[in-house]
Amino acid sequence: MSVRHFLTLRDLQPEELRRLIQRAGELKTAAKAGQHPVSFNRRVMAMIFEKSSTRTRISFETAMAQFGGHALFLSPRDTQLGRGESIEDSARVISRMVDIVVIRTAGHDRIERFAEYSQVPVINALTDTYHPCQLLADMLTWVERHGGVAGRRAAWLGDGNNVCHSWMNAAQLFDFELNVITPAEQKPDAQLLEKTASHVRWSTDVAEAAGADLIVTDTWASMGHEEEKEERQRIFRPYQVNQQVMAAASPDALFMHCLPAYRGQEVTEEVIDGQQSVVWEEAENRLHAQKALIELLLT
Ligand code: CP
Ligand code: NVA
Repeated sequence: MSVRHFLTLRDLQPEELRRLIQRAGELKTAAKAGQHPVSFNRRVMAMIFEKSSTRTRISFETAMAQFGGHALFLSPRDTQLGRGESIEDSARVISRMVDIVVIRTAGHDRIERFAEYSQVPVINALTDTYHPCQLLADMLTWVERHGGVAGRRAAWLGDGNNVCHSWMNAAQLFDFELNVITPAEQKPDAQLLEKTASHVRWSTDVAEAAGADLIVTDTWASMGHEEEKEERQRIFRPYQVNQQVMAAASPDALFMHCLPAYRGQEVTEEVIDGQQSVVWEEAENRLHAQKALIELLLT
């Protein structure tokens, strides 16, 4: 049987995703009661991080500890990957010793190449193009708060980036509507817009967020774009999530952000620290959702 990977949300069927979110909720309830019903004793996860991380690294390491397994953090500074060993050779070697691999890297093609040569499941922990693990946590959070997501409407404001792309995939797979609102020069991938057209509408007009059940944004300068920070602040300024945006949304609208957040830029302090913000639950849910994902891929 071929190995299953999780490189984008599309690697799972809508029904599998629905069950995974449900399972994540069960694992969360169990963990809150001090119970850890799943054991992956002696199983090892390799975590290759070619970019910085707080939440993703901690949630995967904690997940493996709670399963009774082990996680190895591998940075390019300390491995031969950082000295030019090929991704294909690294995949062949690493996947002969561990049970599952998590990778955060820049080019999406790098993770695809690793997966092609890996004997064990590979999980995308963020590439420049997608961040599917984030969406598992976001969907869990949305379901917990609103009881379901099908037929609802979310609005993405800001950069048409990796997290935005995963929201577009989620809209189609979880069957909700998504307004993607970005400056013209930072719109999401055109092919993905076409592919997700049944559920996603792109616009440059912030007024399109009116009435949405959920408002979501992300940093204006993703990892790798640090040197464009000033220029980006100018372009994105009209897309800030502030009280006006929240006031125009549905009265029980949620505010989400994958974090790290930059107060006063993509979101005001009032909004991220306000009543409608669910960002801390969203961050915690990374752990529970990824536990359900690991369980699915290891069994
Ligand atoms: N949201 C997220 O992926 O955070 P980290 O970059 O801290 O892992
Ligand atoms: N879009 C951001 C997400 C960080 C979790 C980045 O790629 O830096």
